Amino acid sequence: MSLTLTRADLVRTRHFIAGRWVGSAEPAPALPVCNPADLSTITAVEDGGPADARAATDAAQAAFAGWRATPARSRAALLRRWHDLIQRHADDLGRLISLEQGKPLAEGLGEVQYAASYVQWFAEQATRANGDVIPSPVGGRRMLAVPEPVGVVAVVTPWNFPAAMIARKIAPALAAGCTVVAKPAEDTPLTALALAALAEEAGLPAGVLNLVAASRQRTPAVVGDWLADDRVRKISFTGSTPVGMHLARESAATLKKLSLELGGNAPFIVFDDAELDAAVDGLMAAKFRNGGQTCVCPNRVYVQRAVHDRFVDKLAARVRALKVGPAEAEGVQIGPMINSRAVEKIERHVEDAVARGARVVVGGHRLRDALADGPNYYAPTLLVGATQDMACFNEETFGPVVPVARFDTEDEALARANGTPYGLAAYFYSRDTRRIHRVAAALEAGIVGINEGALAAEAAPFGGVKHSGYGREGSVHGLHDYQHIKYLCEGGLA
Ligand code: SIN
Repeated sequence: MSLTLTRADLVRTRHFIAGRWVGSAEPAPALPVCNPADLSTITAVEDGGPADARAATDAAQAAFAGWRATPARSRAALLRRWHDLIQRHADDLGRLISLEQGKPLAEGLGEVQYAASYVQWFAEQATRANGDVIPSPVGGRRMLAVPEPVGVVAVVTPWNFPAAMIARKIAPALAAGCTVVAKPAEDTPLTALALAALAEEAGLPAGVLNLVAASRQRTPAVVGDWLADDRVRKISFTGSTPVGMHLARESAATLKKLSLELGGNAPFIVFDDAELDAAVDGLMAAKFRNGGQTCVCPNRVYVQRAVHDRFVDKLAARVRALKVGPAEAEGVQIGPMINSRAVEKIERHVEDAVARGARVVVGGHRLRDALADGPNYYAPTLLVGATQDMACFNEETFGPVVPVARFDTEDEALARANGTPYGLAAYFYSRDTRRIHRVAAALEAGIVGINEGALAAEAAPFGGVKHSGYGREGSVHGLHDYQHIKYLCEGGLA
């Protein structure tokens, strides 16, 4: 796929700071952005450093007073204009996503709609950021709880959803009256920069949104500057648990508010009373979205003994039929993995599983054929005989691998599903109403799919428990994460 967009000017390669597109303050070699399908260089962007991070914070701080004072209805109108421009340029954005991230074009276009849905939702929420009037326990007083924007927010996003992750952080921040400094993932900065160009076109005042691109090597210095800066009052991060823990430690000195959407290790349980075809459909949708590169995708599949073999047969047929190839090829369902490190991790997980006794039913190797001709393709893989000690049951594989284990009882399934430090998503299939309520209550996860594999929606709270982090994105809760509550107590009214 080439970088031919209807709006060629959406391809931006410079930082967006204080309403201007600027080069790095300290010159550094440009950061190449590669197509993961064939490793060709799409273009190269500025590689930012601490001086750019500081300039972005200066701009965001300067813009904060004006933006928070902007009436909610006007902030909402700007977000709506941004949403409309995203929709108008959905084809270009979808192509950019697929080009730099590798997901099939249909998924790239779908992600634009997903991203836009957050912008629309928070445009609506901006005008509903109500507080409370509290009945006073003593006479002669009026007590109010008033939500206020937390201030400058630093947003750090991953590569797996180059548009949706940044939209679902920036939109609520702007709706709440916060200003933003953001660093998109080093592998996929182009979509974020294009979104910033559209936000500028929508009329967002200078300094309200600032974006700094940075390489893997220079990211710690950029984010480190925001961590140390007292003017940055919140960090919203999606990424790995070790990095989330680092951010929590390093932001302690300035006591920032944090939203951390971290790693997952989602269980997917199929009970013997499940509707098996629906369970296979749900697993295929949840597991193979974005080639298995999502935090919420099922990482461990537990199937009750009585239905195990039938379920595996049905699943094997579906996995075998998946079409792998570059984003733009007709009918492709799985694209390349994001980079060589990702493929090496998948290989390590499959080798470890096989060494510990798992059997490969489908796939189990890198793919290089006429369609998937590049180093980053991995065959959709089904493993049976998975056990709790395997790497694929303990770490996120982040690839198209389904390891399946058998279980006997509900208690056993729950103990194994919860036997992980992570708690982002969990899924189960059953037709027994009492079991549904029991299992939903017992699963240690922030998001539970019950007879459903596609869970994310802008109106729903997204986030985890345990080592999967805290804070919620989307829904009414997503706005609260960018606010604090000021208590006003007015006396002498008697
Ligand atoms: C993620 O993988 O972090 C996000 C997935 C989603 O929004 O559904």
